[in-house]
Amino acid sequence: MADQNAKTNGGGSPAPGAEGFATEDYAIQVEHIVKKYGDFTAVDDVSFNVKNGEIFGLLGPNGAGKSTLIRMMTTLIPITGGFARIGGHDVAKDPDAVRRTIGVIPQALTSDLDLTVEENLNIYAKLYDVPAKERKRSIDELLALVDLTKWRGAQTKTLSGGMRRRLEIARGLVHHPKIFFLDEPTTGLDPVSRVAVWEMLGNIKSQRQLTILITTHYMDEADRLCERIAIVDHGKLVALDTPMALKASVPGSNVIEAQFENVPSDWEQRLHTLDDVTSVQHEGASMYRILTGNGSRTTTELVEMAVEAGVAVKSLSVQNTTLDDVFVHYTGRQLRDELQKAYAFTMPQRPGLQP
Ligand SMILES: Nc1ncnc2c1ncn2[C@@H]1O[C@H](COP(=O)(O)OP(=O)(O)OP(=O)(O)O)[C@@H](O)[C@H]1O
Ligand SMILES: [Mg+2]
Repeated sequence: MADQNAKTNGGGSPAPGAEGFATEDYAIQVEHIVKKYGDFTAVDDVSFNVKNGEIFGLLGPNGAGKSTLIRMMTTLIPITGGFARIGGHDVAKDPDAVRRTIGVIPQALTSDLDLTVEENLNIYAKLYDVPAKERKRSIDELLALVDLTKWRGAQTKTLSGGMRRRLEIARGLVHHPKIFFLDEPTTGLDPVSRVAVWEMLGNIKSQRQLTILITTHYMDEADRLCERIAIVDHGKLVALDTPMALKASVPGSNVIEAQFENVPSDWEQRLHTLDDVTSVQHEGASMYRILTGNGSRTTTELVEMAVEAGVAVKSLSVQNTTLDDVFVHYTGRQLRDELQKAYAFTMPQRPGLQP
């Protein structure tokens, strides 16, 4: 069951994920954290813990407060209330110790376009005081890890969006951090590059024993990569659990997506009356998303009802419940709709050609 206590976890009780774990087992501890901008509360009493070695996902629509949470945890902005402990260090009291422990990939691309891939890594290694003789070995290893060895001498502006993201991931690891924060590392990438980045993160994690906190809009990716997921909405933590437990917490085990023609005005209400149906979402263009506890029985009844009503079924698919359904269940709306309303993030044009 998803952790509904998360947002109101009051009275000094441990944050979600704390059960049975000593403080030193946690890479990240966030307790009742709040961020206010004037009267506006961007992060509202959020508590969670991330275990050492875990890949933890923060999921939420635009403006949910994901970046604000990351900025507070990584010492970039002051915390209004509550506290965060990263690698055992209090963010407010010992920010330098936190900075030495973490690697951060911010949401915007920040590598220097006029430098080569290797120069970008070198600058960071110097900035973090990586000893000169270790620098080259570390950079060689990182370039291999993110599959950019061939491009070490290429100017960063000639790289594709996916390659730049991989460079930034390498850059964030140059000082061997223990805890890695990535803010939407795959937004704006094509599907192939997205998969490449996530596979790379899996490899890196297994080789470097990192704890990873990652934010994303993409439910499928969070489902695939993250061991636990926190769903954030309007600054509040609305659910937190493993992807499997989150999906199991949603009533209904299958989702039917069906498109009809000539539907009567009460069609949505009629869909609700079918056996085992737990929710019906109208997605526009006579497309409906129906959650049910019994996909095959509801499908049969649905087709019979459509024939009787003279409604044509244009398309129909039955799948298992996804994290999209989890999101709708806990927030009352589709993440997809939210994203369509939001501005589109596009990668900059690149002059050269790459594979
Ligand atoms: N410096 C600021 N001053 C005022 N409001 C801010 C500031 N930074 C963020 N906000 C507001 O706080 C809320 C949370 O923003 P945040 O960037 O954390 O969201 P997000 O979940 O990262 O969204 P996205 O998916 O678009 O990156 C938003 O409503 C945003 O407008
Ligand atoms: Mg953000």
